[in-house]
Amino acid sequence: MYKHNDQQFLLSNQYKDASNLNARIQLHRFSVNKRGLSNWIFDHFDLPNECDILELGCGTGGLWKSNEDRIPQGWNITLTDFSPGMVEKAKANLTEVPHDFQFETVDAQSIPYEDHSFDAIIANHMLYHVPDRHKALSEIRRVLKPDGVLYASTIGFGHMRELQSICDKVDPKIDLALNSVQSAFGLENGAEQLEKYFNSIKLYLYDDYLLLPEAKPIVDYIFSTSDSTPLMLEYGPDAFLHVIEEELKTNGPIKITKRTGMFVVS
Ligand SMILES: C[S@@+](CC[C@H](N)C(=O)[O-])C[C@H]1O[C@@H](n2cnc3c(N)ncnc32)[C@H](O)[C@@H]1O
Repeated sequence: MYKHNDQQFLLSNQYKDASNLNARIQLHRFSVNKRGLSNWIFDHFDLPNECDILELGCGTGGLWKSNEDRIPQGWNITLTDFSPGMVEKAKANLTEVPHDFQFETVDAQSIPYEDHSFDAIIANHMLYHVPDRHKALSEIRRVLKPDGVLYASTIGFGHMRELQSICDKVDPKIDLALNSVQSAFGLENGAEQLEKYFNSIKLYLYDDYLLLPEAKPIVDYIFSTSDSTPLMLEYGPDAFLHVIEEELKTNGPIKITKRTGMFVVS
């Protein structure tokens, strides 16, 4: 079974390239909050016009693409991810953005920069994947300047719980293991992990949910999560499409809970 922090599996399968992450990003087009998570995260950055920023686990670089019109020229931004495929995708996505970004392949558990190099570190939806978070958080503390800030977004209990209910109707043995991600580093237990390294921890919640009038993006999302994959493949996408289409016919658009927020830490 897929483990959210099995780094070898994540590298060779889940995040080998951007296809799984993109399927999940597509679902968020149906978000009710039109501000968008990337814009909301950027709204919280309280940084001078000249500063050094490191992003860990940057994925496809969506944070910067969504905010391309408001990145101060004096921000020296290094985008990193431990998956070379993701770094390539981020680079490709940002070629048209008029800013001079740096790109590197970096594992958050071993950050190859000098002590006190950065004014800000961004770690969006990635700390729950890191098996040795003690190592990663001490590395983050080390490379942050003493007055630097960590911005770390994550999810909380109940996030997307309706997806498990859909799977249960296909076969209760299909376990999306949503809770294993949330209990690694989530809205409920992130602060206690961070307080060993930082003095000030603020948590901001992003108010949103999804409203789905069609089935296919939900099925694509479920199949992008890789958990219980052999069983899911045995049933095939049509079994899931059928369950969701029945639900749409009976009750109309499907509401999916989102529980998302960001720790701002110094
Ligand atoms: C859920 S995606 C989030 C991507 C992006 N930050 C976003 O919010 O869209 C998690 C990312 O963390 C990366 N990742 C997982 N473990 C990592 C590690 N130990 N060090 C650095 N990146 C890691 C994955 O390759 C993937 O791109």
